[in-house]
Amino acid sequence: VPDGLVDAYRRPLRDLRISITDRCNFRCVYCMPKTVFGRDYAFLDRDELLTFEEITRIARVAAGHGVHKIRLTGGEPLLRRGVEELISQLAEIRTPSGDPLEIALTTNGAALGVKAAALKAAGLTRVTVSLDSLDDALFQRMNDVRFPVGRVLAGIDAAHDAGLAPIRINMVVKRGLNDHEIVDMAQHFKGTPYTLRFIEYMDVGNTNGWTLDEVVSSAEIVERIGAVHPLEPVGAIVPGETAQRWRYVEGGGEIGLISSVTNAFCGTCNRARISTEGRLFTCLFASEGHDLRALLRGGATDDELAAAMASIWGARDDRYSEIRAGLTPELREHRKRVEMSYIGG
Ligand code: GTP
Ligand code: 5AD
Ligand code: SF4
Ligand code: SF4
Repeated sequence: VPDGLVDAYRRPLRDLRISITDRCNFRCVYCMPKTVFGRDYAFLDRDELLTFEEITRIARVAAGHGVHKIRLTGGEPLLRRGVEELISQLAEIRTPSGDPLEIALTTNGAALGVKAAALKAAGLTRVTVSLDSLDDALFQRMNDVRFPVGRVLAGIDAAHDAGLAPIRINMVVKRGLNDHEIVDMAQHFKGTPYTLRFIEYMDVGNTNGWTLDEVVSSAEIVERIGAVHPLEPVGAIVPGETAQRWRYVEGGGEIGLISSVTNAFCGTCNRARISTEGRLFTCLFASEGHDLRALLRGGATDDELAAAMASIWGARDDRYSEIRAGLTPELREHRKRVEMSYIGG
């Protein structure tokens, strides 16, 4: 039984994921389709965003509650002006036992070529890059802004050269869209310093029109790759980890599978999310957040903030991915959910 703060299912709080902008320079068809996120879409105003000082304060209080990893997300976090300054403020935080936090960042990789060295210098530990296709034509169709895949690959190498390790590559697999690239992606990253992770396409948000038919299960992915390069499971995962790991029998490293649809991992979920405007969400699929910004801007002390977080986490009983299978499409439809571009991955 863990010490300190636990939720209604005795899950501790370890991982804080902070969205620092709701904007993105990509319009991935499954995340920010242009029909919804068009020219006149109302993104948040500058004064609605948490300031760097507010973000750092929340992170410091969370560290006091057992958080030891921060992940910056978006939208595209590298679009937030001065992100290096934020990272250097976060890098000052210490856990109660005196250790610095692990600071990770999820990015589409577009700006890594330019920013990797500065991010490392500011104190960033590692990056995870989203990459759904190696085929330039398909990649450009998926990001829907004609961004060439070569620049993302160069960005990944720049992050590696800057010492941002280990680097993970996330591929969301959607049947009929990019699932024919599963084996190519595996072969491309086999034997490199990068770990490829396949993500089952999820029903996040209200705009992506998700259906179960479009999900390619992790079991199928392992089977398709294993037919070409035999795989074996790697045991003993870090508690709360999202990915199951498999290694190539012939050598060349391992892959990860994030099976939030076919093998939900809510039982060990230790993640909290802060939206761009400072709402605390206790689940990726929560319909409402808790307004921490109002507390911060209303003059709450650190102790008051800590008490608020403790009571929110203490009441947490979310386990959406475990109950999803039991919901009818109508029930799923009617459940209001936040967009991935607002809350991050
Ligand atoms: P590291 O292991 O530290 O690299 O981070 P992570 O496992 O939290 O992974 P990452 O942030 O790269 O998340 C990868 C993807 O997994 C996300 O984009 C989501 O699609 C999915 N994911 C991450 N956390 C959750 C979660 O709490 N619930 C669900 N359902 N999916 C999640
Ligand atoms: N299902 C699974 N992953 C998704 N992402 C965005 N939308 C979905 C979805 N519907 C992923 C992105 C990125 C991370 C931030 O979330 O590809 O890797
Ligand atoms: Fe694509 Fe990520 Fe931007 Fe969404 S936030 S549109 S998945 S790059
Ligand atoms: Fe955690 Fe919610 Fe994801 Fe389950 S669905 S793993 S509770 S964020």
